[in-house]
Amino acid sequence: MSSYSYKINGGHPLHGDVNISGSKNAVLGVLAAAMMIDGPCVLENVPDISDVKVMVELCRSIGATIESEIAPEGSVILHIDPRTINTYKATGASVSKIRASYYLLGAMLARFGKASIRMPGGCNFGQRPIDLHLKGFSLMGAKGVDPHEVEGGIITLTAEPLRGAKVFFDIVSVGATINVMLAAAKAEGTTTIINAAKEPHIVDVANFLNAMGAKIKGAGTDTIRITGVPVLPGNFSYSIIPDQIEAGTYMIAAAVTGGDVTIHNLIPTHMEPLSAKMREMGYCVDEGDDSVRVYKEEGSVITGTNIKTSPYPGFPTDLQPQAVVLLCLAKGFSKMHENVWSNRFQYVPELTRMGANINCLERVALINGIEKFRSATVIATDLRAGAALVCAAMAADGTSYITGANKIDRGYENIVQKLTSLGADICRVDNVEFEQDVEA
Ligand code: UD1
Repeated sequence: MSSYSYKINGGHPLHGDVNISGSKNAVLGVLAAAMMIDGPCVLENVPDISDVKVMVELCRSIGATIESEIAPEGSVILHIDPRTINTYKATGASVSKIRASYYLLGAMLARFGKASIRMPGGCNFGQRPIDLHLKGFSLMGAKGVDPHEVEGGIITLTAEPLRGAKVFFDIVSVGATINVMLAAAKAEGTTTIINAAKEPHIVDVANFLNAMGAKIKGAGTDTIRITGVPVLPGNFSYSIIPDQIEAGTYMIAAAVTGGDVTIHNLIPTHMEPLSAKMREMGYCVDEGDDSVRVYKEEGSVITGTNIKTSPYPGFPTDLQPQAVVLLCLAKGFSKMHENVWSNRFQYVPELTRMGANINCLERVALINGIEKFRSATVIATDLRAGAALVCAAMAADGTSYITGANKIDRGYENIVQKLTSLGADICRVDNVEFEQDVEA
């Protein structure tokens, strides 16, 4: 994928209204789930982002028929027919471009009793083992699941048949919960997942599968019970939930630019971990039925606070870098504890070049508030870090460049258009223009 940069002239407070797109992490799980049903389905409110394009290509590469159309409001509608799938092998290079490709393990096990998948990719923020996924499949009777026996980066599993089991996870894992749920939906008997993750997109994948004929109870709690069914008839339309992380990023963007933005098409309860922290810091966060308005009252002082990331309903790790930008512009000291990933502060040197005063001690960032960011040329080290740098650049005076911006487009639909409509001065520049601009 070719790389490009975002050029941002900062200092413009964001004002107005913005609509949130469908959830990246939900649609990636739902697309994998769609590969194991026995009839066609239609997915609505699909975000137009590059991770979805990669996943759609991956699904087509195993034979799925997928047609896309653009809905009047700009989202994507996918017409999916998985009956043309002709292989349980997804071993092409594109598998390694995204994390969620590993959901095809669960989906192909459910469909064929066999799966052969290249090890997944995704953002690099520390070790990303899949031992819990493999443990779950193993308990359900899948063979070939010793992670040390992964050959040439390809995992091959067989289970004839796949049987329901009691699966206890000693760490809460979003991916392992979804993967085992997928495999269990068509296994013989009942599977109980104990200490399951509770993220909104887990509920969305379960709701999708139930709409297609599955019997899943308890998604959204820490115990999920799945009674396997032999056939998932499908023939249903399903609309993807709004993206909690995109919504949170716009809430933070509004706040750090000193703006006043109403963010629509979100589920306010999903935003509670962030809304509560923002209110604690002194921002106003007004909830509507499916919107939040973020602004600061004149004369109010924004103060620092402590945040710890943890699985839902805790503070999402995927909003950690953006929240650090928020804390940088608060008065006094703040702390950010990263409890989910072992190495998710790689963007801190970039933010430091924009004037941030942050000391990192392993999983804790100690933040000393600053008045303003300064413009700089910085690198998007990963998807959410890139979004955080966009927020910082919009809050800085002067012109910043965020290189590697293709990483940001993995998870943000039309970010340039959406921010521009709110009054930001942001555009995409290719590498040649970037070099000319920087030299000039
Ligand atoms: C998903 C999200 C990612 C988010 C993360 C945590 C997708 C495509 N990605 O990633 O954006 O940051 O949830 O909310 O939905 N772990 C193990 N063994 C395993 C699996 C996980 O030890 O087999 C550990 C991980 O190293 C990590 C923690 O569990 O420390 C949580 O990981 P997990 O919830 O599985 O994250 P992902 O599903 O990969």
